[in-house]
Amino acid sequence: MMKEKVLEKFQKVFGGEGDVRTYFAPGRVNLIGEHTDYNGGHVFPCALTIGTYAVARKRKDNKLRFYSMNFEHIGVIEADLDSLKNRKEDGWTNYPKGVVWAFKEKGYSITSGMDVLLFGNIPNSSGLSSSASVEVVTGVIVKDLFELESVTMQEIALLGQYSENHFNGVNCGIMDQFAIAMGKKDHAIFLDTADLSYEYAPIVLKDAKIVIACSNKKRGLGDSKYNERRAECETALLELQKELSIQSLGELTEEEFEANKNLIQDAVRIRRAKHAVYENQRTIHAVEALRKGDIKEFGKLMNESHISLRDDYEVTGKELDTLVETAWKQKGVIGSRMTGAGFGGCTVSIVKNENVEEFIKNVGENYKSVVGYAADFYVVDIGDGAGVY
Ligand code: GLA
Repeated sequence: MMKEKVLEKFQKVFGGEGDVRTYFAPGRVNLIGEHTDYNGGHVFPCALTIGTYAVARKRKDNKLRFYSMNFEHIGVIEADLDSLKNRKEDGWTNYPKGVVWAFKEKGYSITSGMDVLLFGNIPNSSGLSSSASVEVVTGVIVKDLFELESVTMQEIALLGQYSENHFNGVNCGIMDQFAIAMGKKDHAIFLDTADLSYEYAPIVLKDAKIVIACSNKKRGLGDSKYNERRAECETALLELQKELSIQSLGELTEEEFEANKNLIQDAVRIRRAKHAVYENQRTIHAVEALRKGDIKEFGKLMNESHISLRDDYEVTGKELDTLVETAWKQKGVIGSRMTGAGFGGCTVSIVKNENVEEFIKNVGENYKSVVGYAADFYVVDIGDGAGVY
């Protein structure tokens, strides 16, 4: 159904002739391992079944023409393949433009322009990575249309991250693009961001579901404190490196960190680095617990992750804390935490099937009365990574 809908719109906007192809890239939710991916630590995200649908076709000239069904009032935005620049007025198209730019930067030959239409059903700025989804779907389009067979899905993830870092100015890690490019139905990815080695772990929740609560507090990573947190961790690492021969905070155990934390010259930075170290260890333990079928322990570690993000990393805020702290009090909640960059965005909770309805009602009502506007809830499924659709 979605395919017909996007194809029909493409035909209206760009005309239906020629070799028109369709693609999909999911959104992602991270179950645990937050703000560890730029610290050489582990993450545990999964791809969702919601995401970005795309239709694309090569052009005969060097124009890139973009249209989003999510921003119909903006209409078609055009760019020139030979002079790709980030321009504020180009809005969302800076993401696909950035990816095309990244391919060119890395020496791939993009021989013509393209018409690209997108439709996403991930809520924007929700923390479910709608922008990384757009980046990865663009990577898949470019690989397919220009027959770049040697480009792997992992490389597409890296190109997406490269474009985000160098074209869009957000120093993000690799988690989002990797999860979106490499996702697998009913599995989460246990990824070691130090060397990109990874394993798929089946998510068998038996009598429970993954519920996402979207705070509806709008934020963009660029204007958030994301880059500041990353810089704080980098400074803390430099301070630790005066005595320790480590490449990243992810190499430290909790004990090693406690024994050496005084090398860090600032109390706030000690807390930031503490989060990165402890969260990485928590993620490793959480995956072990899940493998043993110990969902209760997994949930407990999710809760501890939120506390650390709230108190030590300070990336939660009233909205996310209200959602999570209300969730913890509900019947049938196995674990609940913020997910993604924070500062707004979403929470992820594991909730027993029979309590999901009541959970949504109670958390929703309390959120509205505390924050003043409504949250949105999604019971989600874990889907496959990006590809031709
Ligand atoms: C954003 C970034 C990721 C990661 C998370 C926090 O989603 O894009 O690379 O750092 O925040 O875990």
